[in-house]
Amino acid sequence: MEKPRALAPVPIRGVLFDAYGTLFDVYSVGLLAEQLFPGQGQTLGLLWRDKQIEYTRLVTTCNDGAHYQPFWDLTRSSLRYVCKRLALDLTPEREQRLMNQYRHLSAFPENKGVLQALKKRGIVTGILSNGDPSMLDVAVKSGGLEGLLDHVISVDSIRKYKTHPDAYALGPQHTGLDVRQIAFVSCNGWDALAATWYGYQTLWINRYQLPFEELGTAPTYTGSSLRDVLTLPGMNLPGAAA
Ligand code: LAC
Repeated sequence: MEKPRALAPVPIRGVLFDAYGTLFDVYSVGLLAEQLFPGQGQTLGLLWRDKQIEYTRLVTTCNDGAHYQPFWDLTRSSLRYVCKRLALDLTPEREQRLMNQYRHLSAFPENKGVLQALKKRGIVTGILSNGDPSMLDVAVKSGGLEGLLDHVISVDSIRKYKTHPDAYALGPQHTGLDVRQIAFVSCNGWDALAATWYGYQTLWINRYQLPFEELGTAPTYTGSSLRDVLTLPGMNLPGAAA
């Protein structure tokens, strides 16, 4: 793990995780996309994800959220858009298979052990995600993470997606912790950046050796696997789990 940018971190009492790509592995979706559209799976996967996030921003920033739609619906709309853009024949059956794959994602193998270790230390655990509650419910069950998360927080209750500050405010509101006592963990650079701006201690998991966002702020910590959560400086201090 890279060195922290600040000394004397506030002891961490809670850890909130982003869901898609961070706890849940979206790789299987790319594999299926490649099977359905040989040679285009990777492009489809990347553009689909980018369009999905673009749509979340569009509906959050326009007309005070009047155009909000749940993440599931935006996920389907973005798939349809990208297939049109790439001139891929998205039959209803193919769409259903891809969406179904998205619903039943596997969790990264290290997750369970990390969440168990956090709970053993008395750290509050949770998800803070753009996913709507039913998507998150199925993902938590499919990923075998039931009972390991104290909070499963969806932005759906406020109809505003991350990176809106109201979405990040849900973390302290639900856990009752000060934002500085919470480590927010995401493998999305934009998410780690916005959470840092909001005031969380952040761990950006750079699973795919990507550059971080070029906007002048670094995440508090950078790691390569979820296991790095357990060695965050604030986590080791005496009383961290008090
Ligand atoms: C989430 C997406 C953005 O879970 O990964 O919020």
